[in-house]
This record gives sequence, C-alpha cells and structure tokens, in this order.
Amino acid sequence: MALKTYRLTDELTRREFDSYCIIPSYIGAEEASVKAEYFGEVYDSPVMISTLSGLDNVSLSKAAVMTNTLDWNGVMPVETGLAILETGVPTILSSKPLADLDRILEMIRLYAEHGAKGFVMDADFIFDNTTGYYRNHEKFGQMGRKTADDLKAMVNASSLPIIIKGILGVPDALACREAGVKGIVVSHHMGVMETAVPPLRMIPLIRQAVGDDMYIFADCGIRSGCDVFKALALGADGALVGRPLVEAFAKGPEAAAEILNRYTNELRYYMSITGSCDIQHINREAVMKL
Ligand SMILES: Cc1cc2nc3c(=O)[nH]c(=O)nc-3n(C[C@H](O)[C@H](O)[C@H](O)COP(=O)(O)O)c2cc1C
Repeated sequence: MALKTYRLTDELTRREFDSYCIIPSYIGAEEASVKAEYFGEVYDSPVMISTLSGLDNVSLSKAAVMTNTLDWNGVMPVETGLAILETGVPTILSSKPLADLDRILEMIRLYAEHGAKGFVMDADFIFDNTTGYYRNHEKFGQMGRKTADDLKAMVNASSLPIIIKGILGVPDALACREAGVKGIVVSHHMGVMETAVPPLRMIPLIRQAVGDDMYIFADCGIRSGCDVFKALALGADGALVGRPLVEAFAKGPEAAAEILNRYTNELRYYMSITGSCDIQHINREAVMKL
C-alpha cells in the first residue's frame, strides 16, 4: 500500500527554497571544489541518492559509483544490502524503526562486519499516518517506540555511524546527538504530515543547536544544484535526492547519475559565483531570505 503523503507539504517545502535569493561575490572568486567528506571519507559531491526502497537498489547503486558519491539505501532484504556491499560501493544501509530492537541491532552488526559506511533509521515511519497507531506494515512488519536508550544501543552495537532520518525538531536533533548518533537527515519523508515544517526552515536552527560535530543531511524537495547550495549555506553537510532519481532510474542508473551530475554542476556554479571555494567554506552570507 502506498504511503499517504500531502502535496501541500511539498508545496510549502518548495516555497521555502524559493524564498531565498542568491547574492553573488565575484571579486577574488575561484572555481569551487564540490568534494565532500562524510564519516572520514572523501567523495566527489555532496549530492546523493536518498534512502529509496522498492527499486532494484543493486542497479541504482551504480549511479553512486558513476558519480563517486556515498550510496544511501532505503529498507530492503538483508541479502540485497549484502549484495550491494559486495560490489564495494561505499554504502549506507537502513532499517525501519522496527518494534523488535534486537533485529535492528543484528542488522547493524551484520552490515558493519560487511563494510557498510553507516546505518540509517527513518524514525518518522514509527506511526501510521492514517491511524496514529504504531505502523504495522504488511511488508516491513511492526514498528514501535524508539527511546534515547534504544538509540544508544544502536550506537553501541558496532563502530558503524548511526544516522537518524525524519528529524525536523531541535529537541529530537539534540536527543540524537546526546545518544551519540553521528548524523541526522532533516526530512518529512516526502510529506507524510500535512503542513510539516519545511526541512530548509529547520536546518539553521538545528545546526545552531547541535553545533559542528554532527552531520546534517537535507532531504525533501531538492530539485536543483541551487537548492543544494541553499541547504548547504543554511547549515547542511549534504543533500539527498528522492523522486527525481526514481523517475530517471526508470531509464537506468545512467539517467539517475545524470541528474546527480547536473545538480552537482549547478552547485559548483553557485559555489563559484558566491566565493565559496569548497564545502567547508560555503559563503553563508550568499543567501538572503526575501
Ligand atoms: C519510491 C520511494 C521509496 C522510498 N523508500 C524509503 C525508505 O525505504 N526509507 C526512507 O527513509 N525513505 C524512503 N523514501 C523517502 C525518500 O528517502 C525521501 O525522504 C523522499 O523521497 C523525499 O525526497 P524528494 O522530495 O527528493 O523525493 C522513499 C521515497 C520514494 C519515492
């Protein structure tokens, strides 16, 4: 059954991106480097595949190989996750917030043993957005409450960086940091809430609250390199792209890689014209809210 989502939430998210304008700074500006570091490794771009499921993820991961980016994945059978890891592509694998914490911990340990680069859990999948009860998904199983202690158990299960997706509020972001979570994905999961706050609105507030020792990934509504630039200028470390890649991937991983490359090239342009020589030196003064 398809996840119920709200178009209005996407519209508000779009409006937030469009409410920022670019102020260029040409004098002394040079060609920007878009290389990005995550969890100790350097990649060619901060524009990445979001956590997508229900696709041929082994094939989709080729788009990450073609663009030399970190490969994120949605929920999938463990064997598929292992098959992706076997190809050698630097990969983040995921689980839903299952009620059975032990299953999540087992997965973390297994993926860590097989060389994953991180493990992400979409906390915003806990509750069914049509009933308000814990989600009992026909394919993924029973979801359940996740406490700060559960997050700590996930962090302590292995050396794998833990990332929590679906964070929108500052208290959740702080709870994640407190538990030792290494990264958060600021996301409303393509609009599971009617009128969810746009992730872009929350990124600066979350960055200010958590400081610099946690990765923040922007998700939802990223449709150009200009959008990526705005997310980075407001405090994100990287950006995840969902539906445009699903659409392109219908034609194969090359078409998905083309979208990632296009957004990356556009990002380089916006970085170059704003005197942002690299990701660490994004000119935060270069975006202004109208
Ligand atoms: C086909 C499809 C499958 C998805 N599967 C997952 C998933 O398994 N786990 C998850 O956290 N998010 C999943 N998502 C949500 C995306 O990761 C992302 O949050 C969402 O698409 C918002 O980004 P967008 O506006 O660029 O599409 C899925 C989205 C799509 C379109």
